[in-house]
Amino acid sequence: VNDPLVLGIETSCDETGIGIVRGRTLLSNTIASSMDEHARYGGVVPEIAARAHLEALQPAIEAALREAGVQLDDLDAIAVTSGPGLAGALMVGIGAAKALAVSLDKPLYAVNHLVGHIAADILDASAPPLELPTVALLVSGGHTSLLLVRDLTTDVELLGETVDDAAGEAFDKVARLLGLPYPGGPEIDRAAASGDAHAIRFPRGLSRASDLDKHRYDFSFSGLKTAVARWTEQYDGELPVADVAASFREAVVDVLVTKALAACADHGVPRLLLGGGVIANRRLRDVALARAAEAGVTVRIPPLSLCTDNGAMIAGLAAELIRSGRKPSTLEFGADSTLPV
Ligand code: KG4
Ligand code: ZN
Repeated sequence: VNDPLVLGIETSCDETGIGIVRGRTLLSNTIASSMDEHARYGGVVPEIAARAHLEALQPAIEAALREAGVQLDDLDAIAVTSGPGLAGALMVGIGAAKALAVSLDKPLYAVNHLVGHIAADILDASAPPLELPTVALLVSGGHTSLLLVRDLTTDVELLGETVDDAAGEAFDKVARLLGLPYPGGPEIDRAAASGDAHAIRFPRGLSRASDLDKHRYDFSFSGLKTAVARWTEQYDGELPVADVAASFREAVVDVLVTKALAACADHGVPRLLLGGGVIANRRLRDVALARAAEAGVTVRIPPLSLCTDNGAMIAGLAAELIRSGRKPSTLEFGADSTLPV
């Protein structure tokens, strides 16, 4: 089948995503989030996420089918994220996917969440076809990864990733330090609007010459978070929240863009694909676009609804796997919270 009708289930974090695609055509992309339930804890609570998925799945599947105008029987395959992500949350999605596949007698595809983020790009009908190879930078509350994509179904190489916090997590933690609500990304963005990005020089993680041998494409944000904490503790007087927010954001953006463009240069790949919820950050997009242009690198940014965690990217990746002749998964697979690409 060249244009298989696939339903994708994504439950690796706090979004219950159900997407339906026909080949590379997006038919529906339904998302239910338990974000509000995590807000008072200042971050995603795994048990709450898993239970919320359980409650959200059935209505989300029904909504996605309705939106796409298709019936369960019409589907050619079911796809599900098997990792990386929160084990309990993944398990709920995998259980639902297996139940659907068995009861409908349809093939089932277990797919990698990070590769799914890359596949999101090909569902963007407004963009020209994705050119390969490309470097991909995926930044969200759960991951910060730099990848080299030579072929979506057979050759995705992890160049580097965060050694501690994810970039979005750093936004969330620093927002909390500044007394701003969860999720912190949009709040820091808002606070930073009136701030001076050069007011405070916060550290760029793993960017010293001595770090670059072993960690050229890796990220670290916990030292930055500590630096912000120390700076705010020592500050005497009313905290200049806007300047702290802007300077912190600049440190994150600077290191993300610098390392992504270094990967492009080192591999002779003049293309950079961005993905993940942190891409909502205006400053990140602006700096990436400006510096990439200087370096002769073209940047692709899918629409935000495809950048944040969603089921369509999982369905879209499975459709590519089917197109490439990949056999379905057997029912034995389970959740793998650290699944490699
Ligand atoms: O991809 P996503 O929706 O969910 C997962 O993390 O799985 O990403 C959410 C993360 C949160 O950490 C949130 O603070 C961050 O993305 N985020 C932002 C912005 N909007 C959301 N970070 C920086 N700037 C933003 N404007
Ligand atoms: Zn993600």
